[in-house]
Amino acid sequence: MQHSEALQKKINLPSRIEKLYKNEKARIFIEASDKYLECLGYTEHGFRHSRIVSNSAYRILKNLAYPEETAILAAAAGYLHDIGNMLGREMHHKMGAVLAKEILQEVGFSIEESLKVMTAIVVHEENQGAIPDEVAASVVIADKSDVHRSRVRNPSMVTEDIHDRVNYAATESELTVRSDERKIVLSLIIDTRISPVIEYFEIFLQRMIACRKAAAVLNAEFNLYINNTRMA
Ligand SMILES: [Fe+2]
Ligand SMILES: [Fe+2]
Repeated sequence: MQHSEALQKKINLPSRIEKLYKNEKARIFIEASDKYLECLGYTEHGFRHSRIVSNSAYRILKNLAYPEETAILAAAAGYLHDIGNMLGREMHHKMGAVLAKEILQEVGFSIEESLKVMTAIVVHEENQGAIPDEVAASVVIADKSDVHRSRVRNPSMVTEDIHDRVNYAATESELTVRSDERKIVLSLIIDTRISPVIEYFEIFLQRMIACRKAAAVLNAEFNLYINNTRMA
């Protein structure tokens, strides 16, 4: 499955998540965060990224046989994980968690459920140490795996910035879960004329380490393939 619109259409979303996707406050916060990050020169963090992280986190847990209710919490955390960016990049995980509380209660999550989602939002930032549960683990993997050229806002400027270059070089990006082997596999096709593979590691090594750590929480393994060769 590719990170594409087609992937999103394949999933029959639970009604609580549909309700969250239609929530006005969430929509405004995601839009504002993406706008602010655009000013700072960051890659796309808007509805595309939010929906992909939400869908991927949900699929990871469903395919690893976690209960539907747990996967719904992961989908909610994935959708809201970057809303704190509208209040500044540095604390965006903590700000986002606090902002999410009101939205979650508006769409019918209990306080206990909301707290799980809020924790996952805090934990998604890779330097936050321990990954406490499966909801947080799935969001870490879904977020860090969203590498694709469609995140680059201005393709004509990719030579200027290594993050843009690496994302733009990723012409194909596919996150799959092999349920029977409990393996979560990120397969990237990187156009090495745009960015050599070594640049990918320069930027993403920390993120891949976070994915491996998160996969262990799910009693699973994280594998990375670049241009059909296993890297991790
Ligand atoms: Fe983030
Ligand atoms: Fe993110």
